Amino acid sequence: MTATKPVNLWTSSDHVRDYLERADSISHREEGEAALLEFVPQSARRILDLGTGDGRLLALVREQHPDAEAVAVDFSPAMLEAVRKRFADIAAVSVVAHNLDHPLPSLGKFDAVISSFAIHHLVHERKRVLYAEIYDLLNSGGVFCNLEHVASPTPRLHQEFLRRIGFTVETEDPSNKLLDFETQLGWLREIGFDDVDCHWKWRELALLAGRRE
Ligand SMILES: C[S@@+](CC[C@H](N)C(=O)[O-])C[C@H]1O[C@@H](n2cnc3c(N)ncnc32)[C@H](O)[C@@H]1O
Repeated sequence: MTATKPVNLWTSSDHVRDYLERADSISHREEGEAALLEFVPQSARRILDLGTGDGRLLALVREQHPDAEAVAVDFSPAMLEAVRKRFADIAAVSVVAHNLDHPLPSLGKFDAVISSFAIHHLVHERKRVLYAEIYDLLNSGGVFCNLEHVASPTPRLHQEFLRRIGFTVETEDPSNKLLDFETQLGWLREIGFDDVDCHWKWRELALLAGRRE
């Protein structure tokens, strides 16, 4: 018997277009992004953005760290085209096509690994392994900041969250593989991250972060 492949619609250009059209209007996301910016060390020289999309989060981080070198990773052709266009004139940003379902390629070490609303598209087992890969490529004092879409504790809270962002259980993205934030914080601690916490949360949007000593 062959296992069914988990759904991930992000290689569809229609799916990408629908997201990019509403990306600015997602409730409270700017609060989460602002919270993330606080945790990127001022001294960060190399930054990795996983599931970068059109580079929205990386662009915000670069405003505060204009001299840092950055690597932006995604697997969606439409997103890769958008992020390459955004950073076309910026030699300090490299864009890498990679499917995060698979082990990270060799990218060197980083002072900050950031991600927004991307890792919940991976199956849970892969999320945990990816967190360990991220730990391995952080320099001492480096941070992992994951602004993430996490699971609600009850179906009612899930439905209320969806309603507030303009979706229903019928129309929500079937690519989502939501996991509660407590489990993810526990994984980060087990892997060896220090100062692990959920620093900001609005319903299913949460900033999870940890630091490598
Ligand atoms: C909701 S968008 C978020 C994009 C961007 N980080 C932002 O905050 O606007 C999710 C992103 O995760 C990427 N993604 C989903 N699954 C992926 C995978 N298996 N490998 C690499 N990227 C993936 C998608 O292509 C998309 O760019």
